[in-house]
Amino acid sequence: MDEKKIAGIKVTEYIKNNMLLGLGTGSTVYYMIEKLRELVNQGLNIKAVATSQSTANLANEFKIPLVSIDEVERIDLAIDGADEIDGQFNAIKGGGGALFREKMVANIADKVIWIMDSSKVVDSIGTFPLPVEILPYGYRHILKKLKLLSLNPVLRMKDEIPFVTDNHNYIVDLHIEKAFDIKYVSENLKCVTGVLEIGMFLNTCDRIIVGTSNGVKVVENTNKISILNHKN
Ligand code: 5RP
Repeated sequence: MDEKKIAGIKVTEYIKNNMLLGLGTGSTVYYMIEKLRELVNQGLNIKAVATSQSTANLANEFKIPLVSIDEVERIDLAIDGADEIDGQFNAIKGGGGALFREKMVANIADKVIWIMDSSKVVDSIGTFPLPVEILPYGYRHILKKLKLLSLNPVLRMKDEIPFVTDNHNYIVDLHIEKAFDIKYVSENLKCVTGVLEIGMFLNTCDRIIVGTSNGVKVVENTNKISILNHKN
């Protein structure tokens, strides 16, 4: 079976009755949502916050009950995909352009599980271009600043016009080298006016579920640093 599909199905074992879920974005998450539809049809009671309009559309089509992020105080479990992840659970996300909402949802989740195929697990992140959400206002100046920082920015395009996020912003993909200096990049990006969020998720997940040619592999992150005092 497809590696993404087995990871997407496996993660549903962690979904319990009455949970408030965070639903990520992407092709691996699609399989999880497909399975979730089955479980909801069988009587599972859950509510979910979607991290993108495309996920919200899918959930609506599958009759999975949604709530908005501002209707909830916290989330029990956020399930999402990843573009690259290293052995310290540092990840690049945002290939689908949903990084802002994905980070918001992960930040209020008690538990975060990422699902992926085996190609996403790397020794060092950086081969996949790092997505950054920026304000459209003054975007050419933001790009100029990112160039000056040697971050090789490329404005993401779709149908020959800039790709627009669900938050009505633009995405810049930074073509940095593999094993880049995470501290340098995150500290410099934070100082650029117009940069809204970075697709770098450092030690954010509690567990990854990886589909491989030999079946599914579950890896626990025992070193996650919790910033939420309600976590256990
Ligand atoms: C979207 C994301 C996705 O989780 C990431 O791109 C992985 O997608 P896929 O499961 O399709 O490979 O971060 O913004």
